[in-house]
Amino acid sequence: MTIRNVGGGDSLSIFERSWQTYHLLVAHDLMQHHALGQALEQRLIAWLPEREAAGLSSTLAMADLACGDLTTLAPLLRRLPLRELEAVDAAVGVLPQAEARLGPVPYPCHWRAKDLLLWAESGADHPSGPWDLITCLFGLHHLADADKWRFLELVPRQLAPGGRLLIGDLFRQPAEPRQQFLERYWARVNSWTVLTQPSRRLVIDHMASSDYPAEGEQFAAMAESLGWQVRWLWHGPDQAEGLLELGRLGEQLSEV
Ligand SMILES: C[S@@+](CC[C@H](N)C(=O)[O-])C[C@H]1O[C@@H](n2cnc3c(N)ncnc32)[C@H](O)[C@@H]1O
Repeated sequence: MTIRNVGGGDSLSIFERSWQTYHLLVAHDLMQHHALGQALEQRLIAWLPEREAAGLSSTLAMADLACGDLTTLAPLLRRLPLRELEAVDAAVGVLPQAEARLGPVPYPCHWRAKDLLLWAESGADHPSGPWDLITCLFGLHHLADADKWRFLELVPRQLAPGGRLLIGDLFRQPAEPRQQFLERYWARVNSWTVLTQPSRRLVIDHMASSDYPAEGEQFAAMAESLGWQVRWLWHGPDQAEGLLELGRLGEQLSEV
């Protein structure tokens, strides 16, 4: 499969081999998944009546990119009023795990093994969509900045009128070089004693070879220049994780 990540196919090996490590990170909330998930849910709960007031459907067609095994989103996906779900990940083996984690739901699900940038590019070969809600949690930072901008340019093709793109990810501080970001993040990783030393090493090596977080403000400015309205919904306490809401210009993002 073609993968557009800076680290190529190797960048997926940590996810293909070691979901256990990722599950420990999430279970101990070491990467702020809990607060990010809460901010995301809160925004969606507020957004649903806004959609109805604007005459849009009260049910959502949703696509989750870089879905992994749905560690973060599965509980929310069982609560949201979805009419369809497309779950996309470049690691083929993870999709059955995502399906099992989600369990039975009353809407059709499409499990798609695909690079997220290629997914954004290839609207015409999708049997389903466009999507009212597209989420991407901890996936985009694997792409080079130029490919992140390309993603922002292409993904509107997949978004239904009034739709939203929610991106939760790692972001660098203004003017912070990648190496500086990584070093301060690694200080955090080294304090994660709930992981074994080899697991901490695995996380650090994965980040060194594969993680290219955008500078947050540059990402938001680039999105705006590409015709998005952008709003930060949440910043983690370590100035690393953040959640952004993006809508197309002319489609007002309401006040929070
Ligand atoms: C850190 S996990 C996040 C999983 C899930 N979104 C969550 O927040 O719990 C990153 C996921 O991104 C996937 N991934 C990495 N690069 C990708 C790409 N270019 N296209 C699609 N998925 C990708 C990996 O296979 C992995 O499942």
